[in-house]
Amino acid sequence: MKRIVSVLLLGMAIFTFAFSRPAFAADAANGAKIFSANCASCHAGGKNLVQANKTLQKSALEQYGMYSEEAIITQVTKGKNAMPAFKGRLDDAQIADVAAYVLSQADKGW
Ligand code: HEC
Repeated sequence: MKRIVSVLLLGMAIFTFAFSRPAFAADAANGAKIFSANCASCHAGGKNLVQANKTLQKSALEQYGMYSEEAIITQVTKGKNAMPAFKGRLDDAQIADVAAYVLSQADKGW
């Protein structure tokens, strides 16, 4: 019985690992291209041309609860106020890549 349980746990661990890989594999370099094609019109240089206080600088992201891949993915997918939703225009992998890019640029100070 113990053995079955440990085999099951091992199987689950491998499964979880294998299927969560894409989330870790977000590609910031690809995100840079997606950003210039889809986001730079409003967010060039990490700024916000529509709503000046909502920049993509680390301090602003932290202030508005946006300093995480999940938060950015949600907002890019669904949009918010004057920011359009990108669901249908970008697929999930592209949105994850652009979120990774935004965070890495925020860490670098753009
Ligand atoms: C048409 C202009 C426009 C485009 C295009 C646009 N955004 Fe935005 N973005 C906004 C506006 C306006 C806000 C502020 C929304 C609010 O909170 O009311 C915002 C907010 C954000 C925030 C949160 C910033 C903060 O300080 O809270 C992130 C992150 C973000 N945008 C990322 C992106 C990404 C990534 C893309 C491209 C996939 C994108 N945006 C495309 C207008 C735009």
